Amino acid sequence: MRFEASEEQAQIRDMVRSLARKEFAPKAAQIDEEGRYPEENLKRLAELGLLGMLVPASHGGSETGTVAYAIALAEVAGGCASTAVGMAVTNMVGEGIHRFGSEEQRSRFLPALASGTVTGAFALTEPSAGSDAFGISTVALRDGDAYVLNGSKVFITNGSRAGVTIVMAVTEKEPKKRISAFLVLPGMPGFSVGKPEHKMGLKGSDTVSLSFGDCRVPKRNLLGAEGEGFPIAMTILDGGRIGIASQSVGIARAALDAATSYARERRQFGEPIASFQAIQGMLADSATELDAAELLALRAAYRKDAGAPFTREASVAKVFASEAAYRACHRSVQIFGGYGYIREYPVERHLRDIKVTSIYEGTSEIQRIIIARNLLGQGRR
Ligand code: CAA
Repeated sequence: MRFEASEEQAQIRDMVRSLARKEFAPKAAQIDEEGRYPEENLKRLAELGLLGMLVPASHGGSETGTVAYAIALAEVAGGCASTAVGMAVTNMVGEGIHRFGSEEQRSRFLPALASGTVTGAFALTEPSAGSDAFGISTVALRDGDAYVLNGSKVFITNGSRAGVTIVMAVTEKEPKKRISAFLVLPGMPGFSVGKPEHKMGLKGSDTVSLSFGDCRVPKRNLLGAEGEGFPIAMTILDGGRIGIASQSVGIARAALDAATSYARERRQFGEPIASFQAIQGMLADSATELDAAELLALRAAYRKDAGAPFTREASVAKVFASEAAYRACHRSVQIFGGYGYIREYPVERHLRDIKVTSIYEGTSEIQRIIIARNLLGQGRR
């Protein structure tokens, strides 16, 4: 067992760390304040091959693998969490098309996603179907050489900018409900995008609802076989959850770094607050939990790269990392005291940004169900 990054992974980490610290972090507060999509950051990621990390070079990707991707995503998240979620979803969509798409779909979409010409989105959640993903009601009925989609989706990251959105819809209700996956493009008649959501955090990320009113999607845009959409969505989410675990680690490490520096500088009772054991205990707890979170994310990534089952490991990583990261961000605000509660310092943003990591791509409660089913021999394995 090796605990070091390979030479290539270390190079990627150093390159992305420098980019995130020098270019992304200085603008992150302003992006948050203005709720502005960090277009220029995504462009930089595309230039460096960081939007197609899970796509083969033959389709324009950098095929660095999931371990390198997890490392890079954590670094990006430390600089700008909104940029990280945009990066995560585009990589996830590219990988989904690579894994389940036809050769024609791969050639049509993967080079564009990897080069940043096109952004990806993943549309599963609906107003009445969040955790119960199988409960979706958007329908897709076959009509000649097309499917006609009717329904709506909510909370779709990258939704208003995506050049390609993977949309899940019900293609059969009886005798057994079956879901299929479609590649929906902007401009398809009947496809419309709602207003941006006003969120607690990740204010620079694009989160919208989508509507389908008799939206005709050509049959050639069916992703995978008809009726196979649910396992496709679950497989894509397994990989996505490694990304969210990494994003969590990156955000919380930035909060811990800020709190550590502040504790050295801030003086009370005649000495730096870093000399008080209460503060040291908080810093040590955060450092310990974030090390564990990072290792869990890397373990899941390693198993995925090795072709081993990783559903359980991805859920373990996500639930632990998102919750540990929340605790670390909370402690960082506590260390800053009153200054942690105002916008002058970054930790209040980190606390707002981290909250959603235990909600999106499957809540902590859903991750625990997946882990328990696996333990009880009821899950997939
Ligand atoms: N990989 C492949 N297939 C899987 C799978 C996996 N990890 N998990 C389940 N499946 C398959 C099963 O084998 C089963 O197949 P058959 O019908 O052929 O037997 C089928 O899917 C149904 O499985 P379950 O019986 O386990 O399904 P369920 O209804 O009990 O739901 C669940 C399981 C884990 C709770 C699932 O609904 C779930 O993950 N919910 C959370 C949804 C979620 O994560 N949403 C996030 C939205 S996307 C987002 O947030 C992105 C963003 O914008 C940032």
